[in-house]
This record gives sequence, C-alpha cells and structure tokens, in this order.
Amino acid sequence: MRGLGVRVPWSAPLFPPTPYGKTSDTLAPMSAVERTYAEQLDREDPLAHFRERFYIADPEVCYLDGNSLGRLPLHTIDVINELMVKEWGGEVVDGWHHWLDESQSTGDLIGRVALGAAAGQVLATDTTSVNFYQLATAAIKARPGRTTVITDESNFPTDRYILQGLAKEHNLNLVVIPNSDDELITSERLKPFLNDEVALVTFQVVQYRAGARNNVSELTELIHTYGAIALWDASHSVGSVAMNYDADGVDISVGCKYPILIWHDGRGRYSSY
Ligand SMILES: Cc1ncc(COP(=O)(O)O)c(C=O)c1O
Repeated sequence: MRGLGVRVPWSAPLFPPTPYGKTSDTLAPMSAVERTYAEQLDREDPLAHFRERFYIADPEVCYLDGNSLGRLPLHTIDVINELMVKEWGGEVVDGWHHWLDESQSTGDLIGRVALGAAAGQVLATDTTSVNFYQLATAAIKARPGRTTVITDESNFPTDRYILQGLAKEHNLNLVVIPNSDDELITSERLKPFLNDEVALVTFQVVQYRAGARNNVSELTELIHTYGAIALWDASHSVGSVAMNYDADGVDISVGCKYPILIWHDGRGRYSSY
C-alpha cells in the first residue's frame, strides 16, 4: 500500500478508551480518541453521504492520503468509459477536431471556477513540472541581462530542483529565502533580496507542507516594483482557497489539483499565463 493509506481493523478501537469523559459530568461526555465518539461524529457528519460517490475496493482501508491521488469517483468511471466508447470508438481520428481545443476550454473552466482568471489565459496541459520549467524559462528569457532568480526553502522540491537546473543552464544566481520556521513569505522577508538584477521570483500560493498562505496580490505588486516576473505555483491552493489572479495582477502560474478539486482524470494540470 502506498502513502498514508492505513489498514484499520474496524472491530478494534483506534485507541484504548480513557476514563476521562466517563467519570466526570463537567468534562466532555466522551474522549475525542474514543471509538464511540468517532462513530458519533460519523453519524452526525453532513458530508458522510459523499462516501457513496467513490469507488472503495477495500472498506477496511482508511484512506488518509493527502497526496496527489484521491479516491476514484464512481462518476469518473462512467465519464471515461463514455469518452472511450463514444469519442475514441465512435469518432476515431475525427475526434481531433474537438480534442485539440479541449486544453483551452478546460483551462477556461479552471480559470473561471478556481483561479479568478478570464478566458483565454489558462491551459490544461502537461505535468506541473513541465509547465513550471517552460514558464520559468520564458520568464528568464523575458528579462535578458538579469542574473538572479528567487524562491524560498519551503517551496515544493521539484520546483526547487528545476530552478537549480535553470540557474546552472543560464548561469544565474539562485537565491533561496530561509523560511523553515513558519514557511511564510512576507513582503518584509522578500524585500531585502529584491533588486533590479532579479528576473524571476517564484513561490507557492499555499505551502504544500505547512499550509501557510502567501499574499499573492501584495507580493506580486512588490515583485513588479523591481521589474521582475512572479511565477506562482497554485497546486495546493486551487479549489481550497479563493483565487483572484486577474485582480491580483498575476503574471504566470502553474498548478495541479489535489483531491480537493475532483476532475475527470483524478489529476489534472494546468498552466496559466
Ligand atoms: C506544489 C507542487 N508543485 C509541483 C508538483 C509537481 O507536479 P508534477 O508531478 O505534475 O510535475 C506538485 C505535485 O506533485 C506539487 O504539489
């Protein structure tokens, strides 16, 4: 089994019951770690019925994986089967007439419902890392003569590895801002590193580990003051926090969606510019 999928024997308590809530009327009637308490919460959970919408091969598995792949929605099976039979099966090569444009129409939909970006700016395409490499390269080339790229040490590892490669390839200075304490990037933290040598500054909107949320609008404005380009990785914010890319003046962005935003294929990537 992969990641954080945990096999839980449902007949056994998760934790031994404590005497805590049972012996006092002034405390909570049940301890938060008692199985009965968890079962009561399950019974009262207004979202519980959503469980029926997912394919659950093994009911003994408690799937807590916050990673890229959520449970398979039952509807996805129908949609993919329909796509295979009707579109590939039925249309064969003629399908390209509309498949070619779907990167844009899907991108427009993501832009409208999740990014606050007007039509014509978002594409659903490739992997996040490929998109990140392409957009970071484009940004560096759009600022010829500038020698510095900035990110933070809490940024997603693959983004940082790509920046290391780009810095080497283009002979740039890669500045990594220390922020392992609370993982936040604030204007005060960023400002001392900014100058007119900076071509590109790139952060996540919501940090993948701590969940810290950076202020896109304020930081983008600050980065623009120095003539640099801001590249935002929205992988952990899209679908979970309100995004206003057009209003915030965002230049370029990449992202993938996590189980928060259920999409047909279980995992979609987009890039926005
Ligand atoms: C914040 C962030 N950036 C980049 C990536 C890399 O995504 P991909 O595997 O699609 O290249 C991920 C996910 O794995 C991510 O969560």
